[in-house]
Amino acid sequence: MKSKLIVANWKTNPLSEKEAVRLAQAEDNENAIICPPFIFLSAVKKNLKHAQLGAQDVFWEKSGPYTGEISTDMLKNSGVKFVIVGHSKRRTLGETDEIVSKKASACLKSGLVPIVCVGERERDNGHTYLNFIKQQLKSSLVGVPRALAGKVVVAYEPVWAIGRKAARAATSEECGEMVIFIRKILSDIFSVQSAARARILYGGSVEPQNVNAYLTAGADGLLVGHDSLDPKKFGEILKVAQSM
Ligand code: PGA
Repeated sequence: MKSKLIVANWKTNPLSEKEAVRLAQAEDNENAIICPPFIFLSAVKKNLKHAQLGAQDVFWEKSGPYTGEISTDMLKNSGVKFVIVGHSKRRTLGETDEIVSKKASACLKSGLVPIVCVGERERDNGHTYLNFIKQQLKSSLVGVPRALAGKVVVAYEPVWAIGRKAARAATSEECGEMVIFIRKILSDIFSVQSAARARILYGGSVEPQNVNAYLTAGADGLLVGHDSLDPKKFGEILKVAQSM
């Protein structure tokens, strides 16, 4: 069985290296992937014994005149293994599917694992969100080589379920349906084998009390935002995941 991936997306937190190191030490666990802001990657890496390191974004070129950008090889040389690409917040800031696909392909070609985020802004009774997810996923994976497709991690994060102010989290049924739906799309784009190997995560208001439901519904792991800033809650999330 694939072990569950529990991703801590710290977003723009905490404010100092000292706090980042303290948080990383408290969350250091073999099932955890810790994604701090770029500026804390090295310090966090030095303090992890069990968890893997992830980044929250990346640029697709290896090096060159790209002021302000961080490349795949820089991340790799800093010990990063996973990269979140196309998070809804970045998409809101203007990141297109085309940009997401360039980032995902660049990660795979450098040996990094992209965590490609997809998710609809709202749900409607006519189920048009299914078509939206299908298109978003297809366009976000354009150019991904077939041979590497099985390494992709997809995070289904319905935008309406993200953040402390979200009206609600997804239900386990909603999560389960989308995991099946996304696996089917991956199998249509790539192959049945790649789709079976790819890991599909759920994200959006993940808390200790709903972890069991999502993982039982078929998610291969979770992308945790606000509760990853609370070591006690993140520890409980890991404990539930490891007990399954
Ligand atoms: P949340 O964030 O857990 O705070 O809803 C998830 C995410 O945005 O990745």
